[in-house]
Amino acid sequence: MKNIAVAGTGYVGLSMGTCFADMGNKVTFIDIDESKIARLLKGEVPIYEPGLSELILRNAKAGRLHFTTNYAEALADAEFVFICVGTPSGVDGEADLRYVRMAAESIALNMSHPLIIINKSTVPVGTGDWVADIVHRSQPQHMDFDVVSCPEFTREGSALYDFMNPDRVVLGSHNPDAAEKVAQLHLPLRARIIITDLRTAEMIKYASNAFLATKISFINEIAAICEKLGADVNEVAVGMGYDKRIGPQFLNAGLGYGGSCFPKDVKALEHMALVHGSHPSLLRAVMDINRDARRWAVFTLRKLLEGKLDQKRIGIMGLAFKPNTDDIRESPAMDIARMLQNEGAHVVAYDPVAMPTALRDNPTLNMAEDTYDLAKDVDALLVCTEWNEFKQVDLARLKQSMARPIVVDGRNMYDVDVMQKFGFIYRAVGKGNLSEEEEYASTTAQNGHYSVPSSYQNGKSSTETNGSEQPEALQEDAG
Ligand code: UGA
Repeated sequence: MKNIAVAGTGYVGLSMGTCFADMGNKVTFIDIDESKIARLLKGEVPIYEPGLSELILRNAKAGRLHFTTNYAEALADAEFVFICVGTPSGVDGEADLRYVRMAAESIALNMSHPLIIINKSTVPVGTGDWVADIVHRSQPQHMDFDVVSCPEFTREGSALYDFMNPDRVVLGSHNPDAAEKVAQLHLPLRARIIITDLRTAEMIKYASNAFLATKISFINEIAAICEKLGADVNEVAVGMGYDKRIGPQFLNAGLGYGGSCFPKDVKALEHMALVHGSHPSLLRAVMDINRDARRWAVFTLRKLLEGKLDQKRIGIMGLAFKPNTDDIRESPAMDIARMLQNEGAHVVAYDPVAMPTALRDNPTLNMAEDTYDLAKDVDALLVCTEWNEFKQVDLARLKQSMARPIVVDGRNMYDVDVMQKFGFIYRAVGKGNLSEEEEYASTTAQNGHYSVPSSYQNGKSSTETNGSEQPEALQEDAG
């Protein structure tokens, strides 16, 4: 059993610290937010992460988990202290390190014996040395310490599983003995452990996230080309994924990446490159394509709704940036909702868990009680988050209550044939084999009561008729 202190009770700190407690260690969480600590002491978990509440309660009951706002108390018998505080984006895309600085200063002021300080927060390359410098300068009297970088690779929504089953653990330090001690903490995970220097460990984190974001933007670029050329991006991804050098993961085309990590980390890496005289053109393209992925949804809806969204009622299925989380940070859904509202659309949304957080961010959103309530009288439904409960929804019931049977699927969740069989006008990302004329014909045959969108008269959409696809697609730039 080791004594571990964890500074920061966000997703990263809470899930990692609780897993360490579950492995038999004593873990004390420190947070400067008194209300958060008060809630945790009452057994309330301030974030939604599947399985976390139960694990926290179990380990707190067993006496292995403690919560405090007092650094001196948390560090009193700790051998390790993990820094897991937030590093939001600054004005220029750089990582804002103010919370890391505060944590480092508090550790320096309150440590009473030698400590190993471990950076878990995603921090720019060189931050480990900067933290060492702050601790050194802030200590009232000299006391030995080491700084180790231990980047996290867990995903929100599966943080506990990912922590317990890592592909690798990366550790970086100037002192291999300190890194070795942190490696011992991770031994029960039976994972590959890579020990390197501080800066390399920090870079491994950024490079990993940037590469995954690149994979997503790559497949989204291919999707856009598939749409034009009549190919199916899902099948392209399967065909590519069997090549072991490529791999099947992170090749789901859709509305692009969101969340608190990829957008912030790609921007921060671009910023690091720029300030050091590098020219990160690939990273810029990745961000550009990711913005276009969101515009695709607005463009597709506009195109299906006679070329304008004003007064149209659009139902958004899913607000979280991905399923199994209530996190809406940088969520494509939130961005798209705003773009639609800017064009005069009435936006109504439903998400199984993220509605309270979404309403705090955009109080003008109307919320539905469930998917069926959402579908009532909408001109179109837009799938933004692939929650499980959407997958087996009663499509006939859904269609019955919609004003028009239009579904734009930003996560390629439904089967094209099934949707067409149900008589939906269905658009998915990177599916170039949907014929608008055929689809329209089948819809009118089955649903005589639907009014004919003028844009479909003569089998032409309005944008095709006026030949101005490109300028329309770029309209959201102004917003
Ligand atoms: C990501 C990384 O996957 C973790 O390894 C890393 O530890 C974490 O960032 C972090 O830096 O803290 P996370 O942001 O929780 O984890 O979510 P992911 O599951 O990676 O998804 C990110 C975004 O990419 C989501 O919006 C998701 O919808 C999107 N995505 C993912 C796609 O659009 N296509 C895909 O094929 C995969």
